[in-house]
Amino acid sequence: MKATLLSSLVVCGALAAPLSVQAEEGGMTEAGRQIFNHNCTACHSLEPSKNTFGPSLIGIVGRQAASMPRFSYSDAMKDSGLTWTEDNLRKWISDNDALVPGTRMRHVSITDQAQQDYLISFLRSLK
Ligand code: HEC
Repeated sequence: MKATLLSSLVVCGALAAPLSVQAEEGGMTEAGRQIFNHNCTACHSLEPSKNTFGPSLIGIVGRQAASMPRFSYSDAMKDSGLTWTEDNLRKWISDNDALVPGTRMRHVSITDQAQQDYLISFLRSLK
């Protein structure tokens, strides 16, 4: 009896851990969506391959900069040679003009590390 109780506790523990990690990630992505709605949706559509004032950001993590077809990027962005790694995205949202001087995107400055984490978690979910 004692042994069964113990082993079922162990099983619960093993299951609970990954679930709470998932919940945590879901919460981060959700927080990121709100930051995105406040700061980015005015110019970036979430519909796949739809460019509005800014290029679509679907699949942005890992994408080559200035690679959306039919969007007219600035020369600065075309010549940047950047790949949108998490590290570069972090620099971009904290000070885009510093990363790509001459970009056409309006200045954004999200410098809070937690907010950056949330936003990047959300961007990673855009597939
Ligand atoms: C005022 C409009 C505007 C806002 C607000 C805006 N962007 Fe942009 N974004 C643009 C434009 C325009 C470009 C293209 C810039 C260029 O070609 O120099 C761009 C480019 C980008 C790129 C590079 C895309 C590519 O295909 O290389 C990323 C990433 C990006 N924006 C993310 C964001 C995020 C995240 C936010 C919110 C924090 C945001 N933008 C807010 C207009 C905007």
